Amino acid sequence: MKTNIGVFFGGRSTEHEISVISASQAMHAIDREKYDVTPIYITKQGHWYTGDALLDVKNYRNIPELLKQCQEVYMRPVYDDYNLYRGTKKMFGSDVLTKLDVVIPVLHGSNVEDGIFEGVLQTIGIPYAGCDVLSSANGMDKITMKMILQANDVPVVDYVWFTDNEWGNRRDEVVDRIEKRLGYPVIVKPANLGSSVGIGSAHNREQLIEKINEAERYSMRMIVEHLVEDLQEINCSVLGDCDDYRMSVLEEPIKSGDFLTYDQKYLGGGKGSKGMQSAQKRIPAELPKEETERIQYLAGETFRVLSCHGVSRVDVIVDRNTRKVYVNEINTIPGSLSFYLWEATGLPFDKLMDTLVKLALKRKRQQSLKTVSYDQNIFSLGGGGVKGAKGTKA
Ligand SMILES: Nc1ncnc2c1ncn2[C@@H]1O[C@H](COP(=O)(O)OP(=O)(O)O)[C@@H](O)[C@H]1O
Ligand SMILES: [Mg+2]
Repeated sequence: MKTNIGVFFGGRSTEHEISVISASQAMHAIDREKYDVTPIYITKQGHWYTGDALLDVKNYRNIPELLKQCQEVYMRPVYDDYNLYRGTKKMFGSDVLTKLDVVIPVLHGSNVEDGIFEGVLQTIGIPYAGCDVLSSANGMDKITMKMILQANDVPVVDYVWFTDNEWGNRRDEVVDRIEKRLGYPVIVKPANLGSSVGIGSAHNREQLIEKINEAERYSMRMIVEHLVEDLQEINCSVLGDCDDYRMSVLEEPIKSGDFLTYDQKYLGGGKGSKGMQSAQKRIPAELPKEETERIQYLAGETFRVLSCHGVSRVDVIVDRNTRKVYVNEINTIPGSLSFYLWEATGLPFDKLMDTLVKLALKRKRQQSLKTVSYDQNIFSLGGGGVKGAKGTKA
């Protein structure tokens, strides 16, 4: 029997479409001699579907038509139940459609890449590839991520953060804090989105207020950072777990304008676009050896101190005037799973998928060695045991 890999993608996220592309690439790369693949598409409404029609990206042009060819499915939040159940009960026979052995989430953005979906998998106990709940959540939130990096001597640009509530009630105080700490220019971001959604730069107070009002539409937490005006962006992928990880060659995305927009990143600016791959990039980035090694080291440190797992991509900003390197963000489920960086590093895509499965199984083995509960039932102790239980939870 082959190992059955459940690949989850789509989701209630602004990066839904990008996830469809990433997952399609990943599913085609999996070695079918060794593995079976069950695609599980999460719609924008949050419903799960499976079916072979999900394997062809062209079918997503007409979602209602696509879903007609698919079967709605679900998993139960029950530990050790790896079954995929039919959404509509059959009159006769089993409701179990198939059983998954391991899950590879290829989901981008909030509600999915931020630990929420990982929590479902963790509840079920099924081995899965990639970051766990803690590292996904920390990696997605641009504020907690920067706090953790700072505390571990990984350089990040200076920032100020606040909530939408503070912005609503104490706007002057927030503006004051930003102007005192950072001055202008700054860049305003919702704390937990991706793909440049809701991001804008500001060179004065009027623009600042406008950009924060824009960012606030997307998130309850906002971050304003010092804007590095003359910057070079470099990305590095990291693969493994905290104990044993390696870094890819570097890429330099080529941008036009202020910063990479959603369209530039994924739509390639229009005609003839092939999605993410058409976005222009230089691989490997042309940098002096010491600078390359420094960036790879910082990418590895970012992965390590955030306790990441699987394949991530760490994006850094280099200030062209000072050549100082700042870690900008980590993508714990990067677009295209960064396969093009691993290919350039000598690891083919099918081997990357294979590595992810092995890492998932390794973590499951390690986790199962930990004690999660005591077999002793304190209620069975009798006497004062049960009565005295209240308040003894120390
Ligand atoms: N501090 C900064 N200074 C200058 N440009 C920045 C800064 N932070 C982000 N950018 C630009 O904005 C883009 C999007 O920001 P990023 O933090 O990567 O958010 P996202 O999660 O949406 O990708 C980056 O790719 C970069 O071009
Ligand atoms: Mg980014």
